[in-house]
Amino acid sequence: MNVRITPISEDHIDQILNIENNVHVSPWSRNLFQQEIHYKGSVFLVFMKMGIIIGYGGFWDMVDTGHISNIAVHPGLQGKGVGRFIMSVLIKSIVDIGLNRVSLEVRSSNKRAIDFYERFGLIRDGQRPHYYSNGEQAYIYSMEI
Ligand SMILES: CC(C)(COP(=O)(O)OP(=O)(O)OC[C@H]1O[C@@H](n2cnc3c(N)ncnc32)[C@H](O)[C@@H]1OP(=O)(O)O)[C@@H](O)C(=O)NCCC(=O)NCCS
Repeated sequence: MNVRITPISEDHIDQILNIENNVHVSPWSRNLFQQEIHYKGSVFLVFMKMGIIIGYGGFWDMVDTGHISNIAVHPGLQGKGVGRFIMSVLIKSIVDIGLNRVSLEVRSSNKRAIDFYERFGLIRDGQRPHYYSNGEQAYIYSMEI
């Protein structure tokens, strides 16, 4: 895939917010993305094709685990393998910094994302009741890598 991968910077945030506000039930704010630029324990990558952001994803370094903080694909480009590509790059980055586990939370109603993670081999190993602001529970997924 002929894609430019770059760490998030301030210049990306307007385009990211356009995607974020279209694909997530509780989208991150500008401030949350800005924190990812400066937080030392965060790796947050932007995927671009011809200057257009097609998706993004990141993780936090949590001792032995890379915890996926966010992942999203441009709404017009979903279902074409972009998400799989982003997830593979994130997993490789987690391995490259010496961590041996990946984890994440997902809304229990987000069937598409749940299918997507299960295809990667992630296994549901817990849940957090009332995790989201609308009272929805989160499923916790993880995998040794
Ligand atoms: C979840 C998400 C990142 C997946 O990215 P994507 O680019 O759409 O996924 P891909 O095209 O790479 O598909 C990956 C797999 O899911 C499958 N898939 C694609 N569209 C699907 C659909 N509508 N329903 C179920 N599975 C689907 C593909 O067949 C593929 O399977 P394969 O690896 O066996 O071929 C993307 O849909 C998204 O941004 N969703 C909104 C944000 C979100 O929910 N993020 C996760 C929050 S925890």
